[in-house]
Amino acid sequence: MSPADKPSIRKKMLAVLEGETFASPPLWLMRQAGRYLPEYREVRATAGSFLDLCFNPRLAAEVTLQPIRRFGFDAAILFSDILVLPHALGQKVSFEEGYGPRLAPVLTETTIGDFAQFKLGRLSPVLETVELIKAALPAETTFIGFCGSPWTVASYMIAGAGSKDLAAVRLFAFRHPSAFSRLIDTLVCASIDYLAAQAESGVEVVQIFDSWAGLLPPDQFEAWCIEPTVRLVEGLRARAPDLKIICFPREAGSKLQSFAKRVRADGLALGTAEDVGVVRSQLGFDVVLQGNLDPLSLVAGGQALEDGVRRVREAFAGVPHIFNLGHGILPETPISHVERLVQLVRTN
Ligand code: CP3
Repeated sequence: MSPADKPSIRKKMLAVLEGETFASPPLWLMRQAGRYLPEYREVRATAGSFLDLCFNPRLAAEVTLQPIRRFGFDAAILFSDILVLPHALGQKVSFEEGYGPRLAPVLTETTIGDFAQFKLGRLSPVLETVELIKAALPAETTFIGFCGSPWTVASYMIAGAGSKDLAAVRLFAFRHPSAFSRLIDTLVCASIDYLAAQAESGVEVVQIFDSWAGLLPPDQFEAWCIEPTVRLVEGLRARAPDLKIICFPREAGSKLQSFAKRVRADGLALGTAEDVGVVRSQLGFDVVLQGNLDPLSLVAGGQALEDGVRRVREAFAGVPHIFNLGHGILPETPISHVERLVQLVRTN
């Protein structure tokens, strides 16, 4: 880029991902578009099913922009879901109030091959949403796209639902390792295509959500989290060299160091239970850290919130840091607590 082409307004989050440090860090929240916002609930009520909302470019762009208008966050995250990928592989995905996602049919060793054809065209409404958001975002707001990690997406595809202990997918991987490897390979390739397409349509950063990384013992963590994520990140960098990549191997704990060293993402998002001091002392190389306020302290507000924000800011002081929660914002979070959070983070 020649100096004349440089954007005149700097994007704080992108500057941090280039290694800059700010006294007051850039701020966004996982699941920042969602049920805690009355304006989201209003749109959601008119949209039909949750997937109808994800595939309606005008409404999905609108709910992406709602938290930016209300709170002026430093980044907007595309409104969609990690489970649109199984939809594009041919599974039927639905969301039931009070139950969560359902995917059908459940995959078996023999039917897994029927879900190996990724149809990017089935996600064209999402790419259209990206273009609409790009055109409407304030110049200082960074634009984040995302997908789920192969492991986390596979866990929903195999179980057909959410699961607390991941028993179905872990058992499947023990019983049918080669069929499971094939599914993981399919998801790596599909995720590269999908994220490269998001980048072409206008996102500047992507986050790879590995919500269920922490449940795996080290050898399976290596096989099913680290190795596929290395291939995903390398494949994506070859296709979109300017794109910044944040990984969120949630609650990887003692396995975080090997993850970070092998994957070499631009940013690493830390879950609520990670010990930031330990992470900082172990990661003796350049990676930007994101996180990790307890979402429940944001629900509680008051002293819990004041103390939580102070602790997070102290823990990350002096290193490039993107302020975020350690997991998604909860639907019962009061708006006034989010307003207070913004004040606290924006004060030096
Ligand atoms: O962050 C954002 O604002 C962008 C949108 C976004 C959603 N889901 C919207 C959503 C993102 C980035 C996700 C990621 C996602 N989806 C993850 C990884 C992050 C995490 O929380 O661990 C996972 C595991 C999913 C799968 C998923 N989607 C589940 C388990 C559920 C049901 C649970 C629930 O909160 O109801 C969803 C539904 C979902 N995805 C909602 C939203 C706003 C709520 C549905 C509604 O509004 O009716």
